Amino acid sequence: MEPLTIGSDEHGRLFCRTFIETHKPFEARDIVWPELDEESLSRLKGLPVWDEAARTEAATAVKVQTLGETETDPILKEAIALQGYEEGRHAEIINLLTKKYGIPTAAYGEPERPKDPTWTFLRTGYGECLDSFFAFGLFDIGRRTEYFHKDIVELFDQIMQEEARHILFIVNWAAYLRARRPLALRPAFDARRAWNILAQAFDRVKGAMQMAGGNGGGNGDGKTEKKGTQDGFTLKSHTAFGDFKLRSFLELCLAENERRLSVYDPRLLRPTLVPGFVRLLVKVLPKGR
Ligand SMILES: [Fe+2]
Ligand SMILES: [Fe+2]
Repeated sequence: MEPLTIGSDEHGRLFCRTFIETHKPFEARDIVWPELDEESLSRLKGLPVWDEAARTEAATAVKVQTLGETETDPILKEAIALQGYEEGRHAEIINLLTKKYGIPTAAYGEPERPKDPTWTFLRTGYGECLDSFFAFGLFDIGRRTEYFHKDIVELFDQIMQEEARHILFIVNWAAYLRARRPLALRPAFDARRAWNILAQAFDRVKGAMQMAGGNGGGNGDGKTEKKGTQDGFTLKSHTAFGDFKLRSFLELCLAENERRLSVYDPRLLRPTLVPGFVRLLVKVLPKGR
């Protein structure tokens, strides 16, 4: 296999083509939702993610679609527009799911179109890198414990894999953009990118601290209504998911991250920041019994 020069036309074509060729065409409205028994329904309702997921996916769709509209390179445009379409499909799937199973979600306004689509996509993309890394591990725990209905697990497995493709695209796209900038402009690019990554990481730490403090981590209306189900989730999930040690959880996230990204062309770049940091952390954390 020929080595790849990051930033070359060939690199651009490869990460775009990989993205386009691995897209799974289907319509959200064609999904056949399983009928759930009481127990399965209450598990699904108890997941404290629906409000945030509905809002985030809708906002991400608009951000990515705006960049797709403004991009001038045809292959980049096609790949980015397709990613925007997938984000819109995620939002639609969550809307359909919450309607089907009667899960209340807080209303959210029309997402704003970004003023600087390139940097907004970059910032959102790095946020996805952070979120997906842990989501892959959490999802695998859910799958292994058979806590949720198998059809729902299968559907979300596909969404997880789409997120894996998104983060693969974003790290390659960011490296491609950087490499195509004149040398003198790269430090400014690096600084702005680092600042954006830090802002995203800080956001997550703030959210986690609010959760730990019993604040629910939400920032919208309907927080009080959600609180009861979140407490329920903590209790139920603790018994179902077992006493998962932090170290094992991080190892699982690392393994899942690698597994999900291993199916794509090995010449493409992989996210390194979060996995690298977590690998270091795993080294210093005590081994569980
Ligand atoms: Fe998404
Ligand atoms: Fe995504």
